Amino acid sequence: MKILVTGTAGFIGNELAIRLLERGDEIMGVDNVNDYYDVRLKEARLARVKSHPAFTEARIALHDRAATEDGLGRFVEWYRSFYDIH
Ligand SMILES: NC(=O)c1ccc[n+]([C@@H]2O[C@H](COP(=O)([O-])OP(=O)(O)OC[C@H]3O[C@@H](n4cnc5c(N)ncnc54)[C@H](O)[C@@H]3O)[C@@H](O)[C@H]2O)c1
Repeated sequence: MKILVTGTAGFIGNELAIRLLERGDEIMGVDNVNDYYDVRLKEARLARVKSHPAFTEARIALHDRAATEDGLGRFVEWYRSFYDIH
C-alpha cells in the first residue's frame, strides 16, 4: 500500500514509518525538520528510514501551499493515489 506519512522525523511518524516499511508498504515521508527541538534527533530518526528502497523523503513544510503542491506534484503517482496518516 502507498502511504503518505507526515512528521516522519518526529517521534510518532518515524516509528510509524518504520513499522509500515517492515510490513511492506511504500512510504512517502513528509517533514520540514523544523527546529522546535534538536534537529539532530530528527535527522537521526530520518537516517533510520532514508536508505530503505521503499521510502521517499519529501522535505516540505505543509503550511507552505506552493511548496507542498510543487513538492508532492513531482510524485504524480503518489499524488493521485495514497493513503494519508497524519
Ligand atoms: N507524542 C505523543 O505522546 C503524542 C500523544 C498524542 C498526540 N500527539 C500528537 O501527534 C503528533 C505527532 O507527535 P510527535 O510526538 O511525533 O511530535 P514531533 O514534534 O516529534 O513530530 C512532529 C514532526 O512534524 C514535523 N512538522 C511540524 N510541522 C510541520 C509542517 N508544517 N510541515 C512539515 N512537517 C512538520 C516536525 O518537524 C516534526 O518532526 C502531534 O500533533 C502531537 O500533538 C503526540
